[in-house]
Amino acid sequence: MVGGDWGAKERIWGLEPYYDPGRAIDIYEAVKDLGIESILDVACGVGLILESLSWKIPCHKYHQFDVEQYPEWKSLVISPQKEDLFEYIKRDDSYDLVLMLNAYRNWDEEPREEFNRWLKRNAKYFITSYEGENPICDNWSVIGKDVKGHDLKLYKI
Ligand SMILES: C[S@@+](CC[C@H](N)C(=O)[O-])C[C@H]1O[C@@H](n2cnc3c(N)ncnc32)[C@H](O)[C@@H]1O
Repeated sequence: MVGGDWGAKERIWGLEPYYDPGRAIDIYEAVKDLGIESILDVACGVGLILESLSWKIPCHKYHQFDVEQYPEWKSLVISPQKEDLFEYIKRDDSYDLVLMLNAYRNWDEEPREEFNRWLKRNAKYFITSYEGENPICDNWSVIGKDVKGHDLKLYKI
């Protein structure tokens, strides 16, 4: 259950049984004092995490995309795009914070390294739930749980 300070929009939390509002709350608590002004959610799924963060973290730039299109996107303000990650990272587009939730973890090493190179050029902070060797840098902390109980980690790139 979400606390009242998420405002009138909190009703949306209940829409999807597979959507866990706890992740958005954990992310907000972890980054609220970092001066975040732009956020990208890669492989955003239904898109509710970034939509929720936008209510609490005012930014000049939000973007989210997924290779699949979801019917839930129709009701979002932060309208997601249908795009493949590996097409997206052919261009440089920088964000203070990049999210990749409940994804990335199971990728092969080569595509993950390709994405890591893009991240190092284009992000200040990265949040994911990778559990192997540190993929990006040694400067990270656990900020909560992703779905399926994996640690959610904030990397300072
Ligand atoms: C397990 S879901 C996680 C969705 C969301 N991040 C979340 O945590 O609720 C993984 C998502 O990755 C997306 N995905 C997989 N490969 C992708 C790619 N190459 N480019 C963009 N999205 C991709 C899938 O379509 C799917 O929506």
